[in-house]
Amino acid sequence: MDEPRFELAWTREEGAARAALGFRQRFGTDPVGVWAAPGRVNIIGEHTDYNQGLCAPIALPHCVYAAVAPSSDDTVRLASAQSDGDGLWELPMSEVRPGNVNGWGAYVAGTIWGMRQRLMPAPAISGYVDSCVPFGAGLSSSAALSCVFAVAEAALAGMPDSAGLRIRLVDAARDAENQIVGAPTGGLDQSASLRSAKAHVLILDFQNNTARQVPFNLASSRLELLVIDTKAPHQLNDGQYGARRASCEAAARKLGVASLREVDDLEQAMRVLGPDTVEGRRARHVITEIARVKEFEQVARQGSWEELGRLFQESHDSLRYDYEVTVPELDVAVESALAAGAHAARMTGGGFGGSVIAVVPAERLQRVANGVSAAFAQAGFAPPAFLLGTPSAPAARVV
Ligand code: GLA
Repeated sequence: MDEPRFELAWTREEGAARAALGFRQRFGTDPVGVWAAPGRVNIIGEHTDYNQGLCAPIALPHCVYAAVAPSSDDTVRLASAQSDGDGLWELPMSEVRPGNVNGWGAYVAGTIWGMRQRLMPAPAISGYVDSCVPFGAGLSSSAALSCVFAVAEAALAGMPDSAGLRIRLVDAARDAENQIVGAPTGGLDQSASLRSAKAHVLILDFQNNTARQVPFNLASSRLELLVIDTKAPHQLNDGQYGARRASCEAAARKLGVASLREVDDLEQAMRVLGPDTVEGRRARHVITEIARVKEFEQVARQGSWEELGRLFQESHDSLRYDYEVTVPELDVAVESALAAGAHAARMTGGGFGGSVIAVVPAERLQRVANGVSAAFAQAGFAPPAFLLGTPSAPAARVV
């Protein structure tokens, strides 16, 4: 078995230098600035965002970087270090509408489109992208791509940064994903990238669109947040995600509520839906998961980390058996991380592949990474990769 591989985050200066260099080489001029937007992990509260519920993400130190300059002809031109062989991605903004945009540039042009739909000034741009957010790992590399251009656009248009502006940018970035890319996701990923704060976990409430920053300092208890990228392929626009969302909406209709957030009596809901029906199981996940986020907020405020093991286990089991979004790689990663000495472990993000998070005593990091890698080798899975999930800063200008 090979040594476990850790994906290190670039410093913001290093990321900015890479993106600026790529821009100069590709476009032959200097960019007007470089922006960064982080990927995320959700600590708890999965598939709750589109049910008007609560979730609790942090921003990763791993960012998408974009070197940007306004374009004079209302055409978006993009290149990236990750798809250099593909040449320039190019599209006039007049062509940007639902169903008409293909490729990774849809996240960028879609965000500009979303801002314009929402009556924000948003110039077309040339942009060069470089990223150390692992791609396809369920760590929101694509939301970060939208968000890095959202903050760049706002700055180019002279909009002063504020909490209120960032809420509007979340909406525009989500428009890109929902309407231009065509994935019916909630707002968790974009909110994490735009509204997080360093050293804090963001408690998001989608019922009233509020956010609370709670200090999240595992390190003072000599704990680390280990992110395990299982390398199991992950996609949100293949229908499974939308099917989960549709079941939740159908369950809410049967219960006579606008969203599952409004359900406060689980037993009564199960009597109406049936505890073993698909809708009953999907609703039970959402209702219990929202309750777990509330518990988690208290745990984080008190630093009572010993509670995390139970909360993470309940969340993972609920996603595995009731919501049915785990895959064998996620289950094996959780089980092997716990067996090797992690205090808590669960899948994070949408599921169907993607990543697991584990809370691990600092001195056992290597042991847990080794244990998970060995279990993957034994199961015949591709080798996983590892990241450290230090709660980091939100999207911002770097230079
Ligand atoms: C994906 C979606 C989010 C959220 C999570 C599950 O990351 O993009 O909106 O629904 O799955 O919590």
